[in-house]
Amino acid sequence: MRMAFLEITDLRKTARQGQSLVDILKGINLTVQRGEVLALIGPTGSGKTTLLRQIGLLDGPTGGRIIFDGVSMAGAGERALLQARRRMAMVFQKPVMFRGSVQGNVSFGLKVRGRNDGERVRSALHAVGLSGYEERDAATLSGGEMQRIALARALVLQPELLLLDEPTANLDPKSAKSIDGIIQSLASENITVIMATHNMQQCRKLADRVAVLLGGRLVKLGRPDEVFGDREVCDQMLCSSDGI
Ligand SMILES: Nc1ncnc2c1ncn2[C@@H]1O[C@H](COP(=O)(O)OP(=O)(O)OP(=O)(O)O)[C@@H](O)[C@H]1O
Ligand SMILES: [Mg+2]
Repeated sequence: MRMAFLEITDLRKTARQGQSLVDILKGINLTVQRGEVLALIGPTGSGKTTLLRQIGLLDGPTGGRIIFDGVSMAGAGERALLQARRRMAMVFQKPVMFRGSVQGNVSFGLKVRGRNDGERVRSALHAVGLSGYEERDAATLSGGEMQRIALARALVLQPELLLLDEPTANLDPKSAKSIDGIIQSLASENITVIMATHNMQQCRKLADRVAVLLGGRLVKLGRPDEVFGDREVCDQMLCSSDGI
């Protein structure tokens, strides 16, 4: 069997909430192959964003380990972590714009990496349907536009692993459809995508596999038809506070 692109073993995260320590991730085991689109679903508070942040190496685990393309990130030095981070990009649930133009926002990561390629910025803006936005003031964009700029900011880096936290949550159906199209085209380019979503249609349409998180545990992992065909999982989801 070929080596997994991402191998997560017994990943745990404990965080302080006021006076107490709370287990947010309670031992996640998961492998992801290169080029796969994996959807993370589960009720609000189940740990999706926390898991994405761990995979994106933005935050260290309390226990367990992540092996990224054959290299263990547990105990890796800053240099190895930086190298790995440069092969990934994450789009956050709440997009944050830096002060300045759209061009400045989208090219930010490229500049950090010592590049500034106007053509790449243009093509990333085109991909998210915002061609010609370069000179716009990022602070004046609508929520949906900001979300698409955040995606452009990730695409411009041409990551091997793209982490998306609710990529279409604030978008109108037409914009959401165009983002779905982008995700599909990434998959055809063998880019690995892990996305947290509350949108079951999006899951069915885009995901090769779906991972269901519940209370910090991975309770089900399989193809969309397997997961959505599982009565118990569907019942658990409907019982959750927001029905996913
Ligand atoms: N740094 C932290 N310190 C303390 N508690 C945290 C921290 N990060 C997350 N939590 C808590 O852990 C739980 C999981 O949070 P997380 O953001 O991963 O959920 P989620 O599945 O992404 O939810 P949503 O669907 O609402 O985005 C929540 O109860 C949250 O309040
Ligand atoms: Mg979240």
